Amino acid sequence: MAKITYQHPNGTITVVDVQAPNTVMRGAKLNNVDGIEAQCGGSAQCGTCHVYIDEASTVPLPPMDEVEDDVLYGTACPRRENSRLSCQLPVTDDLDGLLVHLPEAQS
Ligand code: FES
Repeated sequence: MAKITYQHPNGTITVVDVQAPNTVMRGAKLNNVDGIEAQCGGSAQCGTCHVYIDEASTVPLPPMDEVEDDVLYGTACPRRENSRLSCQLPVTDDLDGLLVHLPEAQS
């Protein structure tokens, strides 16, 4: 289980415990955290689960594959160095303490 913090653009934060084998996206959906649409259900096609990983984060994340890299060029809010698709981030104990920032819009 990992404690994950979702921060909204207005500064509001929601902290939830997410169990494996969920993803960071699924953790938000299961806990009714607004700001992640996930229209494709987690198959790395829609880009509406875009998040910004906190720049100070030292939490180890899996490397980005080519599909995620491509989809991140089509997100509603600008891609940044710290952009990821939250559906491509499987939750493990290692993700405990992860802080993700939600973009202003997903579509
Ligand atoms: S849910 Fe569609 S790309 Fe992540």
